[in-house]
Amino acid sequence: MLSSLIIGSQAHKELFCRAFIDTHAPYDVATIPWPTLDAASLDRLRTLPFWEEALTTEHATAAKVQAQAGLEQDALLREAVALQGYEEARHSALLRSLLAHYDIQISPHPPAPGPKNTTWAFMRTEYGECFDSFFAFGLLAVAKDSGFVPRALVDRFEPIMQEEARHILFFVNWLGYRRAELPVWRRPALAAQCMMAMLLQVWSRIQTARGVSQNENFTLKGHEAIMPDLSPREFLQLCLQENERRLGQYDRRLLRPQLVPTIAKGLCRVLR
Ligand SMILES: [Fe+2]
Ligand SMILES: [Fe+2]
Repeated sequence: MLSSLIIGSQAHKELFCRAFIDTHAPYDVATIPWPTLDAASLDRLRTLPFWEEALTTEHATAAKVQAQAGLEQDALLREAVALQGYEEARHSALLRSLLAHYDIQISPHPPAPGPKNTTWAFMRTEYGECFDSFFAFGLLAVAKDSGFVPRALVDRFEPIMQEEARHILFFVNWLGYRRAELPVWRRPALAAQCMMAMLLQVWSRIQTARGVSQNENFTLKGHEAIMPDLSPREFLQLCLQENERRLGQYDRRLLRPQLVPTIAKGLCRVLR
């Protein structure tokens, strides 16, 4: 019975943890065969402005998720959060492997020290993933068709994107489970924390976009090459489709990220 799952119950916890653990894909970064690129593709790859940000984010996310795993009292929750931390560290290793293979030079900056409160750091970073992943789903779909970089390379990121889908699915259920555990009088404070985490992520990405717009190596021409003939509305619709395709693969009784898709649907109604 689809309607019988109570959010916050043991059955809920087992369902969202098992949905995460049982869909883990084992692979070794060292064995990934990076495709050979022609000189033009390699040049385009090197002009992309987000390598440094991506590597810093993955590295910091791994550390915060692993720290949260150490706080989980429940063995199943601890196993699931630790597995997510492992996957994030693997994303970081995969990016480093790609950068080294294609000789993409970046000057990685040390991640800013995270909040001292481990669970707040985890929530902040996971809200970041909820926001970023929604748009990354659309961007990967665009990249498959744009020819900006060869399809063989874009396809290497397909399993990573699905891992991010699993991460945000796990997080919203972890949060729902935690919320249900709290006495009613403490829930408004949690809701305020959630809102703050999302606002901080929006602000952080506005800063990222400003940095990209000032990047002389990544001109408007480069941007148009990645996003050919797509209006903002069409791009949001693509993100929504991809979001449904990726998250629709899992048990319908689980909670889904709502905030960003709801805002995107609202924007689609007003944008032309
Ligand atoms: Fe990641
Ligand atoms: Fe993730």
